[in-house]
Amino acid sequence: MTQPRPHPAGPDGPDLLLAPMRWWHVAMVAELEQTVFDIDPWTAELFWSELAQGEQRRYLTALWRPQGVPTHDTSAIVGYAGLALAEDGAYIQTIGVVPRMRGRGVGARLMIALLRDARRAGARNCGLEVRTDNQAARALYSRLGFVDIGLRRGYYQPSGGDAYVMRVRKIDTVGYAELLDRVEATLLITSRVEP
Ligand SMILES: CC(C)(COP(=O)(O)OP(=O)(O)OC[C@H]1O[C@@H](n2cnc3c(N)ncnc32)[C@H](O)[C@@H]1OP(=O)(O)O)[C@@H](O)C(=O)NCCC(=O)NCCS
Repeated sequence: MTQPRPHPAGPDGPDLLLAPMRWWHVAMVAELEQTVFDIDPWTAELFWSELAQGEQRRYLTALWRPQGVPTHDTSAIVGYAGLALAEDGAYIQTIGVVPRMRGRGVGARLMIALLRDARRAGARNCGLEVRTDNQAARALYSRLGFVDIGLRRGYYQPSGGDAYVMRVRKIDTVGYAELLDRVEATLLITSRVEP
């Protein structure tokens, strides 16, 4: 297993570091999950099983101004998101931003990074499910080109909440890369993606 190492130091670092989610992040992410999702939060075991899927999953943690802080200091985590990769498609498994940091573009930064990852992996489309009453998430996804393609009643368990199925097609095109660039250009917070 890869061991924690210090984040790069420097006063001019980005606001956000988007780092691959590692085993030492999971306990804190699972704790944050309780405040991020009022209903149906994931357990630590579920995050573990997702990370265990290896190359079929890409999970990111968003760390707020972590310059010089060791990566295992998980107090800097303000968000996280995960992607599943299948044949020619990708799927957003989850995304969450801590309540105090919402509305600043952290969610957009995470989504853009995952969608670029999906493009690099050869995905041609990307899907997700979202609660029908989740207007903030739906606004974010629409901005990134996702459209409703269906409704799944009782999708969320154990709550029984309904979900819209959303998808964006042709993410492998130059046009879509440009859309991601355009959305990114509107964001005030800066970020760096750790390879
Ligand atoms: C969805 C979520 C990840 C977005 O994270 P974020 O960092 O706030 O996202 P951003 O700041 O990049 O963008 C939020 C968007 O929601 C909009 N928004 C925020 N609050 C809103 C509200 N109450 N109603 C409608 N739109 C809202 C913002 O204006 C922005 O829209 P825009 O991109 O068109 O400007 C965050 O709200 C969250 O963690 N929610 C709880 C977990 C969740 O629902 N996850 C999604 C599961 S499908």
